[in-house]
Amino acid sequence: MMTDVLKIENLVAGYVKDLPILKDVCLTLEKQSMTVIIGPNGAGKSTLIKAVAGIVPVTSGSVTMGEQDITRIQPHQMGRHGLAYVPQSDNIFKNLTIIENLQLVLRQSPDNAKARLAGLLDQFPVLTEKRNAKAGSLSGGQRQILAVAMALANNPSIIMMDEPSAGLSPKATEEVLQQAKDLTKDGVSILLVEQNVKQALKLADHCYILAEGTNQLNGKAADLLNDPVVGEIYMGGKRLNPTKQGEMS
Ligand SMILES: Nc1ncnc2c1ncn2[C@@H]1O[C@H](COP(=O)(O)OP(=O)(O)OP(=O)(O)O)[C@@H](O)[C@H]1O
Ligand SMILES: [Mg+2]
Repeated sequence: MMTDVLKIENLVAGYVKDLPILKDVCLTLEKQSMTVIIGPNGAGKSTLIKAVAGIVPVTSGSVTMGEQDITRIQPHQMGRHGLAYVPQSDNIFKNLTIIENLQLVLRQSPDNAKARLAGLLDQFPVLTEKRNAKAGSLSGGQRQILAVAMALANNPSIIMMDEPSAGLSPKATEEVLQQAKDLTKDGVSILLVEQNVKQALKLADHCYILAEGTNQLNGKAADLLNDPVVGEIYMGGKRLNPTKQGEMS
């Protein structure tokens, strides 16, 4: 049985010819898992997601989904491959209502658009309440939930999200990350870039740490959550496992 849905192998990519930002990056996203990518500013996290989405040119290496080679797909081909991408910002149309935003993306699969719209509103009650409001009137967290609902409109098997919690309160962050995690129960696999390392590691299954455009460390999220090095670098030096606190300080 195939358990990995997305495989990135030795990816080299960048914005300018002969100036690679990503150097030999490897990553495997397992089926129905949530995998988080963390790393310092400028590490290449967004570039990695954009390279998979066909937005940043790939020089070498490969991206496969199951048996399909999707290296260098055009961004508009993502839907056809069951891939969706939620950028960090500008991911909704502020001047359209919630319903209009959803209808816009549902136009790509008109067959059962009405049923899909009802299904999405059902799945995200907060959007039902505000269905006729302009998306620009939503709170930050509600906007991210709308962006996720829009990404789900065409039944993707993979959603890539770039810092969905940027600028959100801790409570809204928790809600958005939990919504993302819940999608894995419906069979969706999530590749998430996140700055809220502690919260993300608590919910994610796997974690990859990138720095300077290349892999540093990867493993089970639960293991990295308790890793003193990761704690030191990414969680302000706070050790999360109280039983080990005495031994390590
Ligand atoms: N449009 C662009 N053109 C040229 N270089 C870019 C562009 N976008 C990003 N870069 C460069 O690519 C490198 C990686 O940037 P990237 O946005 O992938 O980092 P990141 O890990 O997502 O950081 P952050 O945590 O700040 O979002 C940086 O050195 C950045 O300056
Ligand atoms: Mg980024």
